[in-house]
Amino acid sequence: MREAAASTTSELRAEVASAVPRHVAVIMDGNGRWAESKGLARTEGHRQGEATLAEVVRAADGLGIGWFTAYGFSTENWSRPPTEVNFILGLHKNIFARRLEMHRNNVRIRCIGRPVSGTSRLPRRILREMEESVELTKANTGLTFTLAFDYGAREELLYATRKLLEAHRREGTEIDERSFARCLYDPEMPPVDLLVRTSGEQRLSNFLLWQSVGAPFYVTPTYWPDFGGAELEAAITWWRRSPGAPASNT
Ligand code: IPE
Ligand code: IPE
Ligand code: MG
Repeated sequence: MREAAASTTSELRAEVASAVPRHVAVIMDGNGRWAESKGLARTEGHRQGEATLAEVVRAADGLGIGWFTAYGFSTENWSRPPTEVNFILGLHKNIFARRLEMHRNNVRIRCIGRPVSGTSRLPRRILREMEESVELTKANTGLTFTLAFDYGAREELLYATRKLLEAHRREGTEIDERSFARCLYDPEMPPVDLLVRTSGEQRLSNFLLWQSVGAPFYVTPTYWPDFGGAELEAAITWWRRSPGAPASNT
């Protein structure tokens, strides 16, 4: 009897020790400072940041995370110098160019942001790459990798409000949290379980306001280009001890 109880407890401990958040969202910050600290142009930081993103998506997939969302370009980022904006947008094209590898790994690619509402100011050629990536991988059943691209949470909330009001007027849809959530850019996106920001700033910067409402916020001083699988695992170890996560309940 006692032995059975002990093994159940150790099984439970093992389960907790290997638990991963269902949805990890990352504010990839510090590309510019990484480059400046090395005497390089800011664009070099963005270039390295794109390679890091590919590596971290692979790591998230390997860890068995279900949803991984990365903040790639915010609605505020349009106010940066045009050359920097163009450079960053070009790099996002590279992310989508990795779609075949992601497809082989059963990764489902999605996007949230103004492209969903059809009001994006992104160049047509990049939108096409994005649409092709989403289409190619839409039936995959592994990790869902979402890029927040030309994204702002305030705009998402306004978009959802307009959509819900329309449904309310047409069909009398109830206005409550469930119906509101169904009007967000990706109605299937689960709440964020772990929110990560690199390079030390403790700011949301207009990211996932609705979805992150209860998420523990892990801030690391590491600049995004230096982030990697090991840091992701460190963030998850931290998460296991945070209120609401499995280990905090044992
Ligand atoms: C994050 O790095 C990348 C984007 C916002 C697109 P930054 O470019 O913000 O780098 P810092 O914060 O200036 O170091
Ligand atoms: C947030 O980083 C946006 C992205 C990571 C895409 P920023 O560097 O743009 O945010 P602020 O300006 O520090 O708030
Ligand atoms: Mg920044």
